[in-house]
Amino acid sequence: MSESIQYELHELDMLKVDVADELLAGLQQTQKSIAPKYFYDERGSELFTEITGTQEYYVTRTEIALLKQYGAEMAACIGPDSLLIEYGSGSSEKIRILLDQVKPKIYAPLDISRDYLDSAAVGVATEYPWLEVKAACLDYTQPFSLPFALLDNCAGFFPGSSIGNFTPDSAIEFLSRVRNQLQDKGGLLLGVDLKKDDVVLNAAYNDAAGITAAFNLNVLSHINNLIGSNFDTSQFVHFAQYNDKLGCIQMFLESLSNQRVEVLGKTIEFSKGEMIHTEDSFKYSVSEVELMARSAGFNEIKSWTDEKGWFGIFYLF
Ligand code: AVJ
Repeated sequence: MSESIQYELHELDMLKVDVADELLAGLQQTQKSIAPKYFYDERGSELFTEITGTQEYYVTRTEIALLKQYGAEMAACIGPDSLLIEYGSGSSEKIRILLDQVKPKIYAPLDISRDYLDSAAVGVATEYPWLEVKAACLDYTQPFSLPFALLDNCAGFFPGSSIGNFTPDSAIEFLSRVRNQLQDKGGLLLGVDLKKDDVVLNAAYNDAAGITAAFNLNVLSHINNLIGSNFDTSQFVHFAQYNDKLGCIQMFLESLSNQRVEVLGKTIEFSKGEMIHTEDSFKYSVSEVELMARSAGFNEIKSWTDEKGWFGIFYLF
């Protein structure tokens, strides 16, 4: 007999035409670009999970240590019987650290990568039979309405410093949208990668095993599958560097030759050395996070950081 699990998957698929328009528009700009959300097809989600296991990428293990050390305090902030919404749940590894302490009624993982979301969410539902899991496949970087009802106690969970993929202005917009979505029924537990020595930052995005490089290049295979373009991944290389002026790691794919790529019936020309911008990952100081939270309308902030001050978890309410 199969065990009973409490699980549902809602699909709010991106419109195919929006995806095509967005990708083509990005590649027709003077500075060609592909939005970082296109990293996450199933292979991309796997590669990201591999990145989190590299020696150089301190981000995930530092955040996990904070969740383990201060989980009880975080759970006390959130309170019991909540609807706990995770923005960009990926492998759902971090929420497992909190579930036994937070004891939410419903866990709602939101992710853009459908199959990866489905298997991660079924995994959680199976491991936690007392928990209702309501997964939703959607692009949380765009405004959206939740495909299920709120509870009296709601909380958001946005770990991993994914907030860093927004520009500082759109990060404030996103945080205000979350605040409105939670309707004063609870706060947001937010993980943020903090500013630090750029030697450490550059190493984290240039791991020696080349997993970040494979992750970056995989975006081209993903969009080839998605829209039938013909990028040759052997003709591009990974480049990542901290931009001190902007306060972010910037990732690019550099063209190794003068080449033409067919995208949706249009020819996109690349010169040797030309870069496609694929990601910005903004880093903040604790006071910058506080400023950002207040600009988004949150009045109270609790924070936890590691000894080196490399990563911060914040409860905004
Ligand atoms: C998921 C956006 C937090 O910026 O560190 C890791 C993605 N890119 N290595 C990050 C990423 C390259 C990651 N975030």
